Amino acid sequence: MRADTPIGRVEIGHGIAATAVEAALTRAEARRAILIAEPMTWEVAGKGIGATLAAAGWKVERILLPRGEDAKRLRVIEKTCRTLAKLHVDRAETLVAIGGGALTDAAGFAAATYLRGVPIVNVPTTLVGEIDAALGGKTAVDIPEGKNLVGVFRQPAAFIADTALLRTLPARERRAALGEVVKVGVLGDERLLELVEEHGEAFAAGSDEPIDSGAVAEMVERCAWAKVKVVCADEHDRGLRMTLNLGHTLGHAIEAAAGYKDLLHGEAIAYGLRGAFAISLAMGLTTRERSHRINALLDRLELGLESPGLDQDAVLERMASDKKHTMGKLNWILPTAAGVEIRQDVPPAAVEFGLIAALRFGGEHRPLDSTAEATAGATADATAEATEEATESSAGHS
Ligand SMILES: NC(=O)c1ccc[n+]([C@@H]2O[C@H](COP(=O)([O-])OP(=O)(O)OC[C@H]3O[C@@H](n4cnc5c(N)ncnc54)[C@H](O)[C@@H]3O)[C@@H](O)[C@H]2O)c1
Repeated sequence: MRADTPIGRVEIGHGIAATAVEAALTRAEARRAILIAEPMTWEVAGKGIGATLAAAGWKVERILLPRGEDAKRLRVIEKTCRTLAKLHVDRAETLVAIGGGALTDAAGFAAATYLRGVPIVNVPTTLVGEIDAALGGKTAVDIPEGKNLVGVFRQPAAFIADTALLRTLPARERRAALGEVVKVGVLGDERLLELVEEHGEAFAAGSDEPIDSGAVAEMVERCAWAKVKVVCADEHDRGLRMTLNLGHTLGHAIEAAAGYKDLLHGEAIAYGLRGAFAISLAMGLTTRERSHRINALLDRLELGLESPGLDQDAVLERMASDKKHTMGKLNWILPTAAGVEIRQDVPPAAVEFGLIAALRFGGEHRPLDSTAEATAGATADATAEATEEATESSAGHS
């Protein structure tokens, strides 16, 4: 699948990486191939792409960043830009980033700032990268005060998602990424939910069958299109794009409270999704059927099952410093029966219910169905009152 979109060329396929990169470089009239990877992604993807390009007569330059989140440091950006300067990379030259979300975030930020911006082609090598990180133009690095706090919006010239590159992806990375796929399904893609229901467990367990059958390519394609549509409508995250943050208000707070250790992003999002459904249930925004379906799917994927063992107040504190605020109000993306709503009027009782569902029960619906139902009933009453109060007080200000 190939399409030219307002946010760059999007190519998705199986075994396409090397030829698509060469085509992108040829289109850009590049004089050489400057490949940016990290040790693991060089081994599993970059080396092969580089060899194909070299065999076709391209001069190949390789720049290696540290693996994982360690790439997202300002000192790594400085080092990368110094390497680019030493290679005399000029403003017309295109870079190629080959790696997971951490690598494309860091390489994207370097490309966006070196010489005030040079083009970059993203070749994601993780499912997170293929469905999310390498598409949409958000680039960033971390600082001690928080993740992704320094960055810019800049669209890649091309996004090349090759599902064959996912074969070597470890089971835990696969499983966690499915948390994000479920999120996109909840935003309103029934077919995507069906695909995960049918193939998710096998893919998460490390089977390549869902890759070879094209099921994963279909998941990637559906997620990528959902993202293209949303980003084209709201590139700078001021409205519709916020919906992509479903599960992230709680998820980010849980990740932060865990100190970004032990939990992968998609794993945190699974807790966040469960919490968001609990809040929606308490506020009467979604149906029990919808909530049960998604919680059961997360159960089967073994995501958000165990309590993460975090203190509720620590998570609340992290939520208070979340960047998803507008004018001091936290934007909650909450599931409805078939999509989502953005709400700022979530009563504290509902937030607490969401936190309990995410933190204490972890997979509240499984063995604890009756407890969760009872809690939902009690909280729904309290929440209905709180919602009434909130509505009255906000009406009073308008
Ligand atoms: N820019 C965005 O819009 C956006 C969206 C979502 C996430 N992100 C960012 O993405 C990062 C997470 O990305 P990620 O989950 O891809 O993690 P990652 O890039 O850290 O990669 C995870 C691990 O998988 C390894 N790996 C990568 N590809 C592999 C392959 N094909 N085979 C075997 N191992 C492989 C890596 O070496 C690493 O150890 C976070 O920093 C997050 O903030 C950005």
